[in-house]
Amino acid sequence: MRELLRLLDAKMSFAQNGVPAGRRIQMAQNATMNSLSNTKPLSGAIALVTGGSRGIGRAIALRLARLGAGVAICGRDSDALVATEAELKNSASPVFSQIADVSKSTDVTALVDKTQAALGPISILVNNAGIGLFGPAHEKTEADWDRVLNTNLKSVFLVSRTVAPAMIKRGSGDIINISSLAGRNAFAGGGIYCASKWGLQGLSACMAEDLREHGIRVSVICPGSVATEFSTRGSKDPAKVLSPDDVAHAVEMIVTQSSQSFLSEIHLRPVRKP
Ligand SMILES: NC(=O)c1ccc[n+]([C@@H]2O[C@H](COP(=O)([O-])OP(=O)(O)OC[C@H]3O[C@@H](n4cnc5c(N)ncnc54)[C@H](OP(=O)(O)O)[C@@H]3O)[C@@H](O)[C@H]2O)c1
Repeated sequence: MRELLRLLDAKMSFAQNGVPAGRRIQMAQNATMNSLSNTKPLSGAIALVTGGSRGIGRAIALRLARLGAGVAICGRDSDALVATEAELKNSASPVFSQIADVSKSTDVTALVDKTQAALGPISILVNNAGIGLFGPAHEKTEADWDRVLNTNLKSVFLVSRTVAPAMIKRGSGDIINISSLAGRNAFAGGGIYCASKWGLQGLSACMAEDLREHGIRVSVICPGSVATEFSTRGSKDPAKVLSPDDVAHAVEMIVTQSSQSFLSEIHLRPVRKP
């Protein structure tokens, strides 16, 4: 065992140049223990990813399942849900999908109840479902405003307040809200969308303060343009936009962070400017 650790440490010190030797031994021990016990980092965790049927949510759901979590997804379109559920089943993790409109409280209650009945208590909530609507706010209708604000902001309130009480009882959990750099910036034609995402920033920061004393970490991810069906705005050059998997990687970083600390906000940009 000691010789195996020495070899692993030598191997890891190449990749972890600059990491102190003691820490490398610890990492080597963790790697050894993981390979001996064959457990994945999120084994036993249960994640609910809203809007997990397509785009960024799909990439997050697949990543969490690969890391060993049981995963539930929701959306309004059943064909997309069925297709992604089939992909998730390849991971060997438990999977559940449910048609739900997260802007409606009755759908949200049913979604959370059925998820917990199928998979167990939710330990990771990713509030991802969202829609884009662009153009000058003064040209938009009241129905446009309601649709965007209800989907991008009210839904986070509805789903989080349904999931949080059980997390509080357990004294742990991760709530990750997918916002946008549009939640930090202003641009022409962004009025209604920016209002929803700036609102989400405020909600997320206050939820983080309310829940941290209960051991629950509330994080927000603000991606720039991501290559999905979401919007016709921005660059179409794949080298100048993020991929859904880039956002999934940020979620992985958050949920694998050591339990006494949390990444409260991540700004994610493509290296090359769109
Ligand atoms: N793509 C970007 O450039 C970008 C950049 C920054 C942030 N974001 C944010 O990332 C999140 C995901 O965006 P995306 O690019 O992956 O969009 P997408 O490809 O259009 O996927 C959106 C997902 O949300 C679901 N959804 C929408 N409204 C819903 C509702 N009322 N109830 C339940 N599910 C709903 C959709 O399923 P159904 O349509 O079947 O309901 C779909 O699964 C959004 O919050 C968006 O604001 C996107």
